[in-house]
Amino acid sequence: MSKNTKKTPPAAATWSGRFAEPVAERVQRYTASVSFDQRLAEHDVRASLAHARMLTACAVISKRDLAAIESGMRTILAELRGGKFKWSLAAEDVHLNIERRLTALAGDAGKRLHTARSRNDQVATDVRLWLRDAIDAIGVRLVALQTSLVDLAERHAATVMPGFTHLQVAQPVTFGHHLMAYFEMFARDRERLGDCRKRANRLPLGAAALAGTSYPIDRDMVAKELGFDGLCENSLDAVSDRDFAIEFCAAAALVMTHISRLSEELVLWMSPRYGFIRLPDRFCTGSSIMPQKKNPDVPELARGKSGRVTGHLMALLMLMKAQPLAYNKDNQEDKEPLFDTVDTLDDTLAIFAELVAGIEVDAGAMRAAALEGHATATDLADYLTKKGLPFRDAHEAVARAVRAADARGCDLAALGLAELRSFSPLVGTDVFKVLTLEGSLASRDHAGGTAPRRVRAAARRARKSLK
Ligand code: ARG
Repeated sequence: MSKNTKKTPPAAATWSGRFAEPVAERVQRYTASVSFDQRLAEHDVRASLAHARMLTACAVISKRDLAAIESGMRTILAELRGGKFKWSLAAEDVHLNIERRLTALAGDAGKRLHTARSRNDQVATDVRLWLRDAIDAIGVRLVALQTSLVDLAERHAATVMPGFTHLQVAQPVTFGHHLMAYFEMFARDRERLGDCRKRANRLPLGAAALAGTSYPIDRDMVAKELGFDGLCENSLDAVSDRDFAIEFCAAAALVMTHISRLSEELVLWMSPRYGFIRLPDRFCTGSSIMPQKKNPDVPELARGKSGRVTGHLMALLMLMKAQPLAYNKDNQEDKEPLFDTVDTLDDTLAIFAELVAGIEVDAGAMRAAALEGHATATDLADYLTKKGLPFRDAHEAVARAVRAADARGCDLAALGLAELRSFSPLVGTDVFKVLTLEGSLASRDHAGGTAPRRVRAAARRARKSLK
């Protein structure tokens, strides 16, 4: 319950006319949503104003009523923004709280506002409006994170590190290339959120409780005023489905999954075993018992929070799956998971944009790690193949060379020309060019490859895509 919500004994509800006794206090608390849906207040006011203007244009309410409603809503907005609005549990939810206050300010005009609508189409409209703004704000956060990634990638377009498969050293890549992989993931996340926004941006208002309304309404006018791209075309669907919220949470869960993978790598990279990066102290925390510790709490927490967001997606899917048409009170449960998803993404992305910008790289440690584990073995096999040996035979010859190097505890290149030639007579003096890390990197010179000049080009393209 928010600070502003007074603990009141059950009072007559807006709809209490057909009831013989007031609702039980526990039931009132159980069914009320005002403690969390007050977040929708400004969007609720906006939607109500659009509705009232339409009712006036369609001659359902008078111009005088509209003026009283507009003036009342101005006061309400000022109260909301100044933290002065008095929320009441008895009024159940954000919609009835605002309507009650409006009626206190505007009299009968306030009571006329609810003509030709229901809370069912009202809440669906508010949530869509709110989510639209949230998606836009998250888009801005994603761009900031992507910008940090490109900046760092550009600086490290030629910084060599081991690329891994199965967390075993596989082939050399550049750190810039590795970072740009995350850029691509977040680019798809932005696309997904944009797609979701398109489907969320339809107007439910006008569906009323479920069957539409007998008043001569103009839904297009309301849609236009509220910036919706179109109408929800079926009144039953308009008030009942929350697929737009589910879709958003699915896209959000993927964002957090990408954040979680990045987090996992940051944790590994900053562990002394790798020592690839350092995070500035302002992103780390210490231990209350071990004085020497500097822990990567931020990426660890983000990795944990990815589970929480996926949980919200599951909650919404379960919320929806067995509901008969049309509106059911179950839908009131859509808000907390949705709000928490947005808050979690907002915080996490904001902090990650700064954290990535602050990453300090130990290029020496990355290079040393790339020199262990025969990362250029594939390059040697490709070298032999280009000289005419079938790739399978080349693979076999190099595998034997790797065993010999391992037995000697040295790198492939350290075997020397004579010994390398013992595995294949095709080996020539030019072999050392392909066995070096730089030679390996430079040879992967195609779209999507890790050659430094390709990474620089990818970063340039990426930067342009952010404008
Ligand atoms: N607080 C409700 C919700 O979030 C508003 C709609 C209530 N409608 C109803 N028929 N009880 O869904």
